Amino acid sequence: RLRVANLHKKELNFKLVVIGDFGVGKTSIINRYTDGEFSSSYKVTIGADFAVKTLEWDEETRINLHLWDIAGHERFGALTGIFYRHSVGAALVFDLTRPETFKSIKKWLIDLRKKVSLPGGLAIPTILLANKGDITTETIPADINDFCLENNIMAWFITSAKNNIQIDEAMLKLTNNALRNH
Ligand code: GTP
Ligand code: MG
Repeated sequence: RLRVANLHKKELNFKLVVIGDFGVGKTSIINRYTDGEFSSSYKVTIGADFAVKTLEWDEETRINLHLWDIAGHERFGALTGIFYRHSVGAALVFDLTRPETFKSIKKWLIDLRKKVSLPGGLAIPTILLANKGDITTETIPADINDFCLENNIMAWFITSAKNNIQIDEAMLKLTNNALRNH
């Protein structure tokens, strides 16, 4: 009976984009989330990459999260608009060991909001990830709460792709909002 029920599960596909400067840990976060793995070697992403995470949400619903990993080197370039297309959530990532990567968040956000919105015209739900929290948390910007409020960012998280901290929680936040908006 269960098998029959599962065959008729409703499938939802949500596209989420992960953006931020080069080397902040976007690929590492996605690999951790989708494969449960972490590598300390840095392989630069070229253009964009893509991975799927399937969530057996409830008895009736399966959610496929299509995670788009946008290369930091694309920096607000001509292609980002194509990569953002049809996304229903965004994770903005910066690196707690490099404060300048937080400064860039604003630019990524402007690029994102300029180029994509939900079908109704609303801004796509956005979260902010302060990554490499396993190395330091002393560098958390003092104004991060205000920054999120002023820029319509729903929530921020201290994450670590290395130690698997707060990544499931962050993605769940985006998924819940995607569900609400869909
Ligand atoms: P681009 O593809 O160039 O845009 O970079 P990226 O944002 O995808 O960064 P990537 O995930 O490749 O990580 C860059 C480096 O940081 C790698 O050496 C990772 O191992 C390291 N790194 C990523 N996340 C963490 C983390 O949470 N903690 C620690 N200690 N290192 C991390
Ligand atoms: Mg990458």
